Amino acid sequence: MMKTLILYASKTGVSADIAKRLAEKSGADTKDVRDAGITLEPYEEVVLGGAVYATRLIGPLRRFVKKHAEELSQKKLHIFVCGADMETDLHAVVKKDFPNPIYKQAENIVFVGGELRIEKMGFFSRLIIKMVSKSQEDKESPRILDDVVEALAVKLGKT
Ligand SMILES: Cc1cc2nc3c(=O)[nH]c(=O)nc-3n(C[C@H](O)[C@H](O)[C@H](O)COP(=O)(O)O)c2cc1C
Repeated sequence: MMKTLILYASKTGVSADIAKRLAEKSGADTKDVRDAGITLEPYEEVVLGGAVYATRLIGPLRRFVKKHAEELSQKKLHIFVCGADMETDLHAVVKKDFPNPIYKQAENIVFVGGELRIEKMGFFSRLIIKMVSKSQEDKESPRILDDVVEALAVKLGKT
């Protein structure tokens, strides 16, 4: 079995939950990118995950990936992206916000959907969501795509 690390950044816990689900199914380790002293060295495989905020991937994940791009690009990589917009242009987001070697190295890049956990948001986030949701009444409601999460989980840890 390959040693796998799932690295995530999460504001309201959605990406953290998805990381936990992937870890439970696959036996991988999981860490918040904001944890101190993360070492990638013991891992052959890394999953990078986080949500889209105002069309950009969550900042702490972007910064971690930029900082460790060279080491990460030597690993087997997978990327999951969370978002409440079920029509998110997944590849456009990842291409724009991750260094090109990371984008090219990733074996799987998946959109796992998302949730709007209003109770976990701060005042300004709530305000933005209130404004945006008025213009999106005709759009598909956000939900986590369980089948996509499951499909990624079964791919982890395999050589
Ligand atoms: C201020 C704000 C901006 C957001 N912008 C986007 C966006 O541009 N596209 C999108 O698909 N979802 C957007 N979302 C929804 C989040 O991506 C979604 O709630 C996600 O599940 C949060 O995951 P997290 O708890 O792991 O951070 C936004 C949410 C907030 C609060």
